[in-house]
Amino acid sequence: KPAIVTCTAPVNIAVVKYCKCHMYPCIVSLADMLPFNTFQRHWGKRNEDLILPINSSLSVTLDQDQLKTTTTVASCRSFQEDRIWLNGKEEDINHPRLQSCLREIRRLARKRRNDLDCSVDMGCLSHKVHICSVNNFPTAAGLASSAAGFACLVYTLAQVYGVDGELSGIARQGSGSACRSMYGGFVQWIMGEREDGKDSVAQQVEPESHWPDLRVLVLVASAERKPVGSTSGMQTSVETSSLLKHRAKSVVPDRMKQMIEAVHKRDFATFAELTMRDSNQFHATCLDTYPPIFYLNTVSRQVISLVHQYNRHYGEARVAYTFDAGPNAVIYTLQQHVAEFFHVVRHFFPPDNNGKKFLTGIQVEPVS
Ligand code: DP6
Repeated sequence: KPAIVTCTAPVNIAVVKYCKCHMYPCIVSLADMLPFNTFQRHWGKRNEDLILPINSSLSVTLDQDQLKTTTTVASCRSFQEDRIWLNGKEEDINHPRLQSCLREIRRLARKRRNDLDCSVDMGCLSHKVHICSVNNFPTAAGLASSAAGFACLVYTLAQVYGVDGELSGIARQGSGSACRSMYGGFVQWIMGEREDGKDSVAQQVEPESHWPDLRVLVLVASAERKPVGSTSGMQTSVETSSLLKHRAKSVVPDRMKQMIEAVHKRDFATFAELTMRDSNQFHATCLDTYPPIFYLNTVSRQVISLVHQYNRHYGEARVAYTFDAGPNAVIYTLQQHVAEFFHVVRHFFPPDNNGKKFLTGIQVEPVS
């Protein structure tokens, strides 16, 4: 009989965005180049498979009722091999990121068994698993599906194998932003310094109860798959954008401090301005990438300008936008402004009336 565990994990939306280390051939002196292998040199000297960031980041974990991944893991003696289904379709279990998560959880389970010197039946350690994971929102449309997906996978596997403790470092190896979905509320991912990435983990800054009237609206400008995945996009950016390096070194460290303070004080105007500036700079690094990467579309740009006009009308930042690696806007605002801003959005972007859920117009989803 299989052991079966089902868990859900929420999406998180960064207000200070992450970008990761990549090995890349850098410009080196002739002496450095000799005798061989300039391609092994990399910025930050950290291992690419570990998914380590070049700057710390901060996000808000959303309410699970609206945007979430649900994962079921079954472990059974009779299973011949590990297998995985994502949104009903079987995928390759040998994907390196999946393998990293499976390997790390099983390693912790073995360690726990050895530490406990356990003679009790921990047979499931040798059993294969079948994993089934579904999102209740469109995958790869810039809605951080990999964050909820890998957070959920790691947590569910940990339940099956009886592992607890700090798991964000394992989720990170599935997808960088997944480490932040291991906690609720306001979460920072501290970049860390170690080459083995052991200090690159997520940490809760404030719990979800800290800012009860903060609200999130997701404006779906396109539910299509994004043309450039965030991984290959980031790789090219790290290789070619000097703005990205400037951002990591000279902008984000102060911005993290200011953002954490704004969250502590529930200072929405500062939170909003920092969020919009950070999103804009992230997309500026995409444009600074050579060849450039475009994640925003016409609707995204219209939303940006609508938000600025709305804030200008009131003489204060009442609404903030942020965009990940896709055209969909995530709007942060306070409860008292939701209805009015929703109305304004509906006025400028009337809903599609042909009954389909995600189309070219805008779908607004309030997330409490
Ligand atoms: C733009 O976490 O999807 O959303 O680590 O390669 O899986 P991988 O990338 P992913 O990157 C998304 C980054 C971002 C900004 C952010 O969430 O911080």
